[in-house]
Amino acid sequence: MRQTICCASTVTEYGPSTYGDRVADVYDRTPQVLARDTERAVAALAELAGRGPVLELGTGTGRLALPLAARELAVHGIDASEEMIKKLRAKPVQLEASMHDPVTQRIRSHHIMMSNEGGTQLYPVQVRYAWPSELDLMARLAHLHLRSRWSDWDQTEFTAMSRSHVSVYASSAGR
Ligand SMILES: C[S@@+](CC[C@H](N)C(=O)[O-])C[C@H]1O[C@@H](n2cnc3c(N)ncnc32)[C@H](O)[C@@H]1O
Repeated sequence: MRQTICCASTVTEYGPSTYGDRVADVYDRTPQVLARDTERAVAALAELAGRGPVLELGTGTGRLALPLAARELAVHGIDASEEMIKKLRAKPVQLEASMHDPVTQRIRSHHIMMSNEGGTQLYPVQVRYAWPSELDLMARLAHLHLRSRWSDWDQTEFTAMSRSHVSVYASSAGR
């Protein structure tokens, strides 16, 4: 069977803003964008940027620019598409301001959300953290022992450089 596929627009209509203007409404929900490991990209870029500033060419809806700015880096962006920039501007900006007391192992934070619609909102968080060795002691007191410790859910080796840990404890009864 022969099929004819026809296009409403021609290539000659394609300019620097065409892609962004057409895709802006759905960009953040496209499978290609959802499949990207944004968290790892942002962590790697932040490490490369050091204290900044950062210049992103083709900022789009702010997938990378907004989380980089939330890390208190000065981010400058440029984009040919006004529609993409409108989407970026409509997103709330999240910042975090924290005070850390290493003696009492306490962190007092405020998550700050700023948006065009909601203005500025503060969400307070207060935590007392425990080091892995302290957790192991608490576990021992509860008759548990450490079975595994990784630095993430992919079971990456836990080292002195790890920024998080996943610890698995098992019952010591009948050991
Ligand atoms: C695939 S999106 C990437 C957006 C964002 N950097 C990200 O990673 O999610 C590419 C962006 O580049 C912009 N762009 C394309 N050609 C451009 C040009 N000549 N000048 C400035 N921006 C351009 C588009 O409007 C679009 O927002």
